[in-house]
This record gives sequence, structure tokens and C-alpha cells, in this order.
Amino acid sequence: MAGKIPAQFIDELLDRVDIVDLINGRIQLKKAGRDYQACCPFHDEKTPSFTVSREKQFYHCFGCGAHGTAIGFLMEYDNMGFVDAIEELASQQGLEVPREGGQHSSGPDLRPLFKTLEQSASFYAQQLRNHTQAHKAVEYLKARGLSGEIAAEFGIGYAPPGWDNLIKQLGTDKEGLQHLRVTGMISEPEGKCYDRFRDRIMFPIRDRRGRTIAFGGRILGDDKPKYLNSPETPVFHKGRELYGLFEAHQALRKIQQLLVVEGYMDVVALAQFGIRFAVATLGTATTGEHMQQLFKVTHKVIFCFDGDRAGAEAGWKALKTALPHMRDGREAKFLFLPDGEDPDTLIRKEGTEAFSRRIENATPLSSFMFDHLSKEVDISEPGGRARLAELAKPLMSSLPKGIFRDILQQQLNEMVGLDTMHIMTDAHQAPAPKRPVTPPKREKPIPLVRRAITLLVQHPQLALIQNLPEKWRELDSTGTNLLGKLLELVQNHPNLKSAQLVERWHGTEEYRHLSKLSATELFIPEQGLEGEFRDTLMAIEQQIRTDELNKLVEKAKNEKLEDQEKNRLNQLLMENSGQK
Ligand code: UTP
Ligand code: MN
Repeated sequence: MAGKIPAQFIDELLDRVDIVDLINGRIQLKKAGRDYQACCPFHDEKTPSFTVSREKQFYHCFGCGAHGTAIGFLMEYDNMGFVDAIEELASQQGLEVPREGGQHSSGPDLRPLFKTLEQSASFYAQQLRNHTQAHKAVEYLKARGLSGEIAAEFGIGYAPPGWDNLIKQLGTDKEGLQHLRVTGMISEPEGKCYDRFRDRIMFPIRDRRGRTIAFGGRILGDDKPKYLNSPETPVFHKGRELYGLFEAHQALRKIQQLLVVEGYMDVVALAQFGIRFAVATLGTATTGEHMQQLFKVTHKVIFCFDGDRAGAEAGWKALKTALPHMRDGREAKFLFLPDGEDPDTLIRKEGTEAFSRRIENATPLSSFMFDHLSKEVDISEPGGRARLAELAKPLMSSLPKGIFRDILQQQLNEMVGLDTMHIMTDAHQAPAPKRPVTPPKREKPIPLVRRAITLLVQHPQLALIQNLPEKWRELDSTGTNLLGKLLELVQNHPNLKSAQLVERWHGTEEYRHLSKLSATELFIPEQGLEGEFRDTLMAIEQQIRTDELNKLVEKAKNEKLEDQEKNRLNQLLMENSGQK
């Protein structure tokens, strides 16, 4: 396990990175006053409401509310994880990401492996152009209808015939050979080592940052095995990766939906025909890890299968895997192609428009589920309906709680009818047409506390003002506690800037909240900030007093106050008049 990245490093990184340069490298920004503007990359718009502030090191969209730091931008736009985003920024700055606990816990250095894989990919691509036998491969690709551009975009190459072409290139010394071994590029039965991929069309498999992590190799004819894939290696876990995801990110500004298909060739053919959002699992069924990857990128996933029996079975399996991931707001659909077709053959036959219509008309998860279940029983009979309820039970309970599950449950109740309802007896399985009425316990934030936090997050130097009011701390609420922590952090690290401050809360519940506040416009001139902050803190105190006062007054109306309470009431009344 790699150690935690120290917060100071993240501070330093955000200090060095300029969010304007970072974003400008991806979308064209225009200067507008002190800030920079563009049309928002996160929603469709004609007039720019996406703003980047060099001063605050934040981006914010007034249209869709997207906002964040340089790290947040990479996470959203390039769809990276937190650690990947930091590594990306660090490598741009030529910095090494330190890990808490020192070298020991930082895990093996994977960079030589990525380098070996990259060099292998270049070698294969070059062989497709230059090798004496390359015409065979080129003809094969042409016969399958691949354009040169799309082949280049996906980095498709050719592993020439022979036992040691790659070894001669990259495995001439002990270290090189070791890297080929660890990356699975060579096979070693009985101590003899030779190239794993020979006389095959090579598909580099890239991770979401575009690094080559493995290969799939197709035989040129009908021999077996048709495809040979890299084995599991330190950089490649088959059950997690999706072929084509990086390329989809390259081609699209925002991925609205993902189409999950079965083959490399399907992804490439669809891309060539303009459907840039297809990805493939690598010869395995869709796993839970795949689901996580998919729903990290988009809210809508369409699973595509052949129209035959095997396809239907694979579809049902995918549905069961998808269920636990169907949180509210997510959508899964299922597309079954005509028997004997796969996306590659079908789109070449019927074209982009017809294929796109199939995608649009794909079957929603709920219909697929209930249709499938209904086929196994006879719903015209009470016994059949009871059986349907039985069959649906484990599926329903694997869904996360939420509106989606409630709707499905309702649909099921209608199908099953009341006569068989007694089967659903478990308390948590009981039909739940309405959401439970008890609202989640949450403290209502006082707008004043929120204002103080907003001021502080946007202008951390406010924490350094001498003799700030302190009595607001008596209000023991989520908001005041957070305010206290923010103050303390800046007092201990007086150079923290806004973005750095917010990133310290990364991974906590408050993070979203804080980054949103940091982007809210307050319209307070520089000179007015200190007064505003002080006044806000005082106003919180005033409000605490008023609340207490009201409570005591209310109590006094109905019952006799204790002596202590009377004293407090008097004191409060005095303070109150003194304040005004
Ligand atoms: P398919 O047999 O559907 O192949 O396997 P395909 O993608 O349509 O390939 P073409 O059109 O005949 O070239 C689907 C996927 O299953 C994996 C590969 O990832 C392939 O893309 N597979 C298939 C293997 O790993 N090994 C095999 O021998 C066959
Ligand atoms: Mn195919």
C-alpha cells in the first residue's frame, strides 16, 4: 500500500500550479476582467459562464455550478482519481510525490514497466509500417474495413512472426529482459524465453491516463486462440480495465453515456463510425469493478450483447452485477443485437444513424428485469405471481435503498398483485410505496456561520486577525466546529491559500460544501473584509444569545424559572440592550 500524500505537498503543488495555464491547455480561455472565461466544459452552453480565477486558483461555472481547484478540475475533466490528479500535476512540475512513512511504504516503482510497454507499443506500430511481412497485417485490417486514421488513433500495431523480435529490441540486457518478463511480454516455458505475441495484430490497452498497460493480439486468420491477451501484471488487472475508455475521453469533451461492448474490434469500428463512447471488457464478464469505473465516468451505461442465447445470458449476468451499483440518478440499459451480429458487423452494415437509434431504444433495466423474470413464471396464476415475487426478492434487496428501488418495488407489487403480497414479509422488504417520513438528522446551518466560513475560505488571512470574537465557539454545531477547525489550520499554517485550504478537507463530507462556498461571489471590497468577518462572528454570538433568551422567555411564560435561570435571563436582557 502506498502511504498517504502529505498535506504540505498538496499545498506546495497548488502553490506552483497555475489553474489558468492548466485549464487553458485543455479549453481556450478568454480574459474577462481579472478572471478568465470559456463555455463550460461540463454542460452545454452557448454563452460562457465558466470562470477561472488566477487569484483564487479556482474555477466556477455560474451555469451548472461546477467548481473546484486544479486538482478538482483534473478529476472532473480528465476523469482522474484524486491521487492520479496529484501525480499528474506533480509530474508537470517535475516533482516526485512523497508518501507518508517514507520510501518504504511507497510500493515498487512502476515507471520502468510503463516505459517498456510504451516502447513495445511503438515497436509494434512501427512494424505495421515497416516490417517485410507488414502487408499481410495491413491487408487484413483493410479487409476488415479499418481506416488508417482510426488504427493510428488506437495505436494498433503488428507483432511480426518470429520468436524474439521484441526481445532483440528491448531485452538485450538483464534489466530489459526482466521488465519484459514482469509486463508479460515474453513467455517462458521451461526456462526458454520468447516473445508472447507473434504474427498478430496488436491492440494496446491503455489506462485512463493513456499509458499502455497491456496488449490484446489478434491472429490474422482463423487459428486459435483468436485473441491472446497480456496476463495479469503489476500494472494490469483485467477485471477492472475497459478497452477504449482513454480514447473516448480523448475524443469527447464530456462523456454523456458509455456503451459496453464485447470486443476490441467493436470499439474501434464504432469509433470509426462516430460512436466514440464505446468501451469493451477484456474477454471477461462485466465485473463490479467495471461498474465502478463506468459509473465514475457517466451516469448512463448501455450494455450491448449479441442476440443469441449466450448474449441473453451474459446480459442477465450483467444486470445482476449492475444492481448493487444502481444508486439514484444512475441509469442502465440493455441492447440486444440481431442474432449473428456484433457491433462491428452491424454498424458497417446499417450505418451510424440506425445503430444510434438502437442505442436510444435500448431496454431499461427495470423492463429487462421484469420481462426476464416473467418469462420464467405464469403471471396469470396466483402461484406464478407468488413465484415471481420470490424470484425478484434477492434482486430487489441487492439494490441500494432509494427512489429507484422504491419505483421498482412498486412496479413489482403491481405485477404480483395484493393476493401474493404476504410473501414479502421481511420488514425491510415490505412494499414501500412511500419513502420513510423520518427525515435524516442533520443540523440546519445558520446562514451566519456559513457566511463566516465562506469569508474565511475565500480569504484565509482573516484567521490571522488579532482579538477575534471567541464566544461563538459556545455554539456546538457542525458549522461552528468546522469554522473553528478552519481558523486553527490557517493560524498554524499562515501561508495557506484558499485552494490549499479547501483541499485539506478532501475526502471528507465537508469538501463539496467548502469548495462550493469558496466559489460563491460575496461582493465585498478588499478593505471591508476584516470588518465583515468580525461582524459576522459577533452576529453569530448575538444569535446564540437571542436563541437562549427566547427559550428562557418562552419557559417563563409557562412555568417558574429557577434562580439560576432568572439570573441568566437578566444578564441576557442586559447584554442585549447593551449590544443595540
Ligand atoms: P469475440 O469472439 O466476440 O471477438 O470476442 P470479436 O471482438 O468480435 O473479434 P473479431 O471481430 O472476430 O476480430 C470478444 C472479446 O473476447 C476476448 C477479446 O477481448 C475479444 O475482443 N477474446 C475472444 C479473447 O480474449 N480471446 C479469444 O480467443 C476470443
Ligand atoms: Mn467481431
